[in-house]
Amino acid sequence: MLRLVTIASATAAATAMRVGSAATAPARASAARMASNYIIAPSILSADFANLGKEVDDVLAAGADTVHFDVMDNHYVPNLTIGPMVCKALRNHGVEAPIDVHLMVSPVDRIIGEFADAGASYITFHPEATGHIDRSLQLIRAAGCKSGLVFNPATSLDCLKYVMDKVDIVLLMSVNPGFGGQKFIPATLDKLREARKLIDESGYDISLEIDGGVGPANIAEVAEAGADMFVAGSAIFNTPDYKETIDKMRAELAKVPVPGKAFTF
Ligand code: DX5
Ligand code: ZN
Repeated sequence: MLRLVTIASATAAATAMRVGSAATAPARASAARMASNYIIAPSILSADFANLGKEVDDVLAAGADTVHFDVMDNHYVPNLTIGPMVCKALRNHGVEAPIDVHLMVSPVDRIIGEFADAGASYITFHPEATGHIDRSLQLIRAAGCKSGLVFNPATSLDCLKYVMDKVDIVLLMSVNPGFGGQKFIPATLDKLREARKLIDESGYDISLEIDGGVGPANIAEVAEAGADMFVAGSAIFNTPDYKETIDKMRAELAKVPVPGKAFTF
């Protein structure tokens, strides 16, 4: 039975205001592309969970833009992580940056409203994990969040073309989901180019996010292939100085000849 998302709470509404309206404006793809529009989203999967509030404060103070929040259910992926209560705890702790909730759970729909109420800014999910992709996307926007589809390395982008008007983020996995610290799968570069072309041709204001095995050594080629949001877990949290690492990533991004497009908030 269709679950209607409850009216977003004050927290979710405030979050939605911070990130801008969930409605997309088409025909922005040709807007000037600027390196400063790139978004660096550290994945807290590799943070010290015993000090999570401080870890998030530290990585944001080091120059990160967005908190990437990996939700795993030991069913869709073989690992178990964190849920809406932890998201809410970060908001209560004072985190104001966008929280990018990456759902690796099945089913999807039941948990959308809970994350919106917990302060999520963006909610992305894997098409294989839901029965009705279009409905799940609508539920996310109705809850006041930006919506996104996540494509595993071997999953085709085909379904994307039917829902471009309901998608704010396309996230390409460059590793198989479930664990941090894996190696970037090189075939993702071609897939990024394919996704970038689809997005640009659509005219919709859609961000292209990459997740898995990204760090200072490869962020430039990933950006050149079309990405504009970069998730990095181990590459940031496994280093002693988060600012130094994020600065290195930005320096690499500054070298990219054709920067990707990022959100126009
Ligand atoms: C994997 C997660 C990623 C992961 C990335 O399923 O979605 O966000 O934390 O970790 P790194 O950057 O270490 O590959
Ligand atoms: Zn992720």
